[in-house]
Amino acid sequence: MGDAGNGTALPDAAALAEAGLRLDVDGAVATVTLDRPERRNAMTFALWRTLAAIGRSLPADVRVVVLRGEGRSFSAGIDLKMFSGGGGFPDGADAAATDRFIAELQEGFTWLRNPEIVTVAAVHGHAIGAGFQLALSCDIRVVADDVKFCMKEPALGLVPDLTGTKPLVEAVGLNRALELCLTARTVLADEAARLGLAEIVAPAGKLDEAVDDLVAALLAVNPGAAVATKRLLLEAPGNDLAAQCAAERREQRGRLREMFGGQQG
Ligand code: ACO
Repeated sequence: MGDAGNGTALPDAAALAEAGLRLDVDGAVATVTLDRPERRNAMTFALWRTLAAIGRSLPADVRVVVLRGEGRSFSAGIDLKMFSGGGGFPDGADAAATDRFIAELQEGFTWLRNPEIVTVAAVHGHAIGAGFQLALSCDIRVVADDVKFCMKEPALGLVPDLTGTKPLVEAVGLNRALELCLTARTVLADEAARLGLAEIVAPAGKLDEAVDDLVAALLAVNPGAAVATKRLLLEAPGNDLAAQCAAERREQRGRLREMFGGQQG
């Protein structure tokens, strides 16, 4: 990841606008704005591909990425116009091609887990389907008290396939995830906080302030320790205790080298 890493240029303003996105990079903080408010930030394949391009080309000194939505809602999910003729969906007949097609879209979401960055979803109003999955892909969700999460895909005949099922199950547990997905019901702010879908709830209108406070706190932490700790915590659900203890030792060796290396004769 990062400019320095692979030399890829960030998508330019025209490409971002075409995809319904805005990107502001201010030192260590990048803000990605879903920017089709007249469509409640409905998302297209182009948007997800552009998100992936942002992930591949983020400047190396960016430490925090904030995702937010312009207008009345975070996102109303996939652009329903794509379901009418010519939307560009593969028909599933060619398994390998369909797999590649979806994998490319998922790249718009997976980079948000990179340990080099901390990702914050600032969510207000509706976060439906793909919008909910985008919020789930981020490390920390700050929500306004008017938030409405809904996993709508099964109601439309689909499964959630934009990397949201793993964080959903990890946050709320298998049984609650089943209940939420198979009823496609809406989760409001209080319940979202209770279920672990929101780390911080702010009054509507104070969301930006809450996000700014969080970002300042994240930036105050030692950068190397932040990267190592995210890498370590991401491993925890897949590790048994012995493996996780080994991972802690591995990461701490790196920190100790950084802090005390070369001080002893
Ligand atoms: N795709 C395309 N256009 C949309 C979408 C969408 N997902 N959501 C809203 N819009 C459009 C509306 O058609 C409307 O257009 P118009 O002004 O030309 O009539 C405009 O955005 C505003 O929408 P309203 O419905 O008027 O806004 P409101 O704030 O009252 O309701 C809500 C918002 C609840 C999000 C509603 O628009 C809605 O239910 N949208 C569809 C949600 C959905 O089913 N998404 C798919 C999920 S599955 C997945 O993401 C894979």
